[in-house]
Amino acid sequence: MRTRTQVGIVGAGPAGLLLSHLLALRGIDSVVVEIRSREHCEARQRAGVLEDGSVALLRDAGLASRLDQLGLQHGGIYLQFGGVRQHIDFRELTGGRTVTVYAQTEVVKDLIARRLADGGADAIAFSCTETEVADLDTASPVLRYTDADGNRHEVSCDAIAGCDGFHGICRPAIPPGVLTTWERDYPYSWLGILADVPPSTDELIYAHHSEGFALHSLRSPAVSRLYLQVDPDEVAESWPDERVWDELSRRFELPGWTLQRGPVLDKSITPMRSFVSAPMRYGRLFLAGDAAHIVPPTGAKGLNLALADVAVLAPALDALLHGDEKLADAYSATCLDRVWRSTHFSWWMTTMLHRTPGADEMATQLQLSQLRYVTSSRAAATSLAENYTGWPLLPRLPSDADHSY
Ligand code: FAD
Ligand code: PHB
Repeated sequence: MRTRTQVGIVGAGPAGLLLSHLLALRGIDSVVVEIRSREHCEARQRAGVLEDGSVALLRDAGLASRLDQLGLQHGGIYLQFGGVRQHIDFRELTGGRTVTVYAQTEVVKDLIARRLADGGADAIAFSCTETEVADLDTASPVLRYTDADGNRHEVSCDAIAGCDGFHGICRPAIPPGVLTTWERDYPYSWLGILADVPPSTDELIYAHHSEGFALHSLRSPAVSRLYLQVDPDEVAESWPDERVWDELSRRFELPGWTLQRGPVLDKSITPMRSFVSAPMRYGRLFLAGDAAHIVPPTGAKGLNLALADVAVLAPALDALLHGDEKLADAYSATCLDRVWRSTHFSWWMTTMLHRTPGADEMATQLQLSQLRYVTSSRAAATSLAENYTGWPLLPRLPSDADHSY
């Protein structure tokens, strides 16, 4: 089946779905092609923290009704190390900036519901196979895929957005020699659980411990999300629930404080990686989100970066489709500025808080010194707070009345 759309989008994660919606607000057609089922996309446990800029972006785009109802605004985090738990007060340090705890699963559900309501059932093709992109260096790139019923499609586009995550097909479709990549694999993974128990804390706890890092996050007043640093070759089967809770209790231990336990609803292991590829464009193919860059989750940046990329990409594509290439030409450099800042911050948080296997006692003492500095110097704490809460998103979205760029 041969069809046409203005922008072909590969991947129905946060980047691809939000891009499709932002383009629709500008009157631009798109089709989103996704390898997984709708149920899988909506259930995949990932991020939980939105920067103020991400919340404002979703609100400006008319996507925040559930977010405004269910999102939990947090004005700081705790850093725990050497037997003490210290608060970093974002509001006070940054003149009122906060983050919002709202699960990526909910962001994705909101986006899917809105795209299907506005664009009809064909706006997103779920459960596709054999996705291919071609003719990327021409003015009519092509997106091919086989739909859930086995029909082969060929969609002629004005531009293609590769929003298909780190393991997608778009980045590898760029000819050899075009991209420069930077990569760092960390010698540990995160074991994450979702637990049907009220959080034992009012704000997130990032804990440094001789046995390894632990993070207490949450999803709602009734559901907790917790992570443990584990060896990179660990499998979830070696971590029965009791072992996970025992280890979490050990790493968060503090006199007079108890970690509440409850039924484990989900358990998975995630490797930790930093990765950047540049440029984020080849001809009429634009990469966005995890397709172009990955950060370890310790800085809570990956989802926010994915949303920020497409906030830049939507007006750039709008201009490109109207014959003005300036914003498209600036797309990669505009995004990479934020990407590198987040890459550095995520690396810094990660290496400050995790135990590196085989590291000597001096490495531990340097981490503890850094943690004492960050919790006692206003300048250092402000730097953490500024990075964690993020930067304003530019350019701003047009108002509903103004869909020009
Ligand atoms: P993805 O969400 O990966 O979406 C890509 C989509 O493309 C997927 O739906 C995939 O199925 C689809 N796809 C892949 N290949 C194909 C193909 N060939 N054809 C069609 N479709 C394809 N970030 C934060 O900001 N804050 C946090 O607190 C945070 N915590 C995290 C915790 C964990 C445990 C993990 C794993 C990640 C966390 N992140 C966090 C990172 C965040 O989840 C990602 O950065 C985010 O999902 C990126 O969105 P994306 O749309 O770019 O990619
Ligand atoms: C989460 O809630 O999943 C989460 C929160 C903060 C992080 C990473 C993950 O740094």
